[in-house]
Amino acid sequence: MRGSDSDALKKMAAIEAAKLVQSGQIAGLGSGSTCKFLLEELGRRAKNGLEFFGIPTSRETKKLAKEQGLKVLPAEKAEKIDIAIDGADEIDPELNLIKGYGGALLREKVVASKAGIFVVIADESKMVKRLGKKGILPIEISKDSYPGIIDALKDFKPALRNVNGKPFITDSGNFILDLNTGKTDLSYAERRLKKTSGVLETGLFILMASHAIIGTKRGVMHLRPKNAHYEAINHGNVS
Ligand code: 5RP
Repeated sequence: MRGSDSDALKKMAAIEAAKLVQSGQIAGLGSGSTCKFLLEELGRRAKNGLEFFGIPTSRETKKLAKEQGLKVLPAEKAEKIDIAIDGADEIDPELNLIKGYGGALLREKVVASKAGIFVVIADESKMVKRLGKKGILPIEISKDSYPGIIDALKDFKPALRNVNGKPFITDSGNFILDLNTGKTDLSYAERRLKKTSGVLETGLFILMASHAIIGTKRGVMHLRPKNAHYEAINHGNVS
């Protein structure tokens, strides 16, 4: 798919998702190119009277939100987040996600986990049958732990993320490692990573999204997790 085609699909999903934000709400604002369209649409709606506070998941999102005239709050100031909307790098049929190709996964996970509803938006190229298709799992690590983690996770061929020949530093002052997970069972990988000292967060977002809005060549699709039991648990409406 050409970039301009996928941008049109991202925009379609973002515009649809922006309809979910209502006046009086606190909304988590994700990071990345799909969310840029979301911010533009929320900015347009704010000019027409929508009043809400946004919780940006990155400095870039904060800057873009302010440029759109949106009111923002830091995550720690928000007692509750009504809804969070964010992009993803891979989405499986249960709406489990891999995130973090943009390097904002730690704050994105904090905001998504505080949100009453977490909605993922993307173009259809992000849909996969099983997570791990692209073979990369980003994790955020503390800088001090870098040498030890490289050794502890060497079977995942960890690559320190670089930008212009220098290590990429996240908004929280940490490093990102891109792990080559290959065919590894990702739930095993997650358990191992959570036990590894210095790993602050992983890009696996399991059982977090309750709804996906996907831009496709045939129009916008609204998806719920395929497994109805999981959906019911997430909505707290198991009778
Ligand atoms: C950043 C992310 C982004 O949500 C993810 O990379 C998707 O980005 P894009 O909308 O540009 O494809 O996880 O950490």
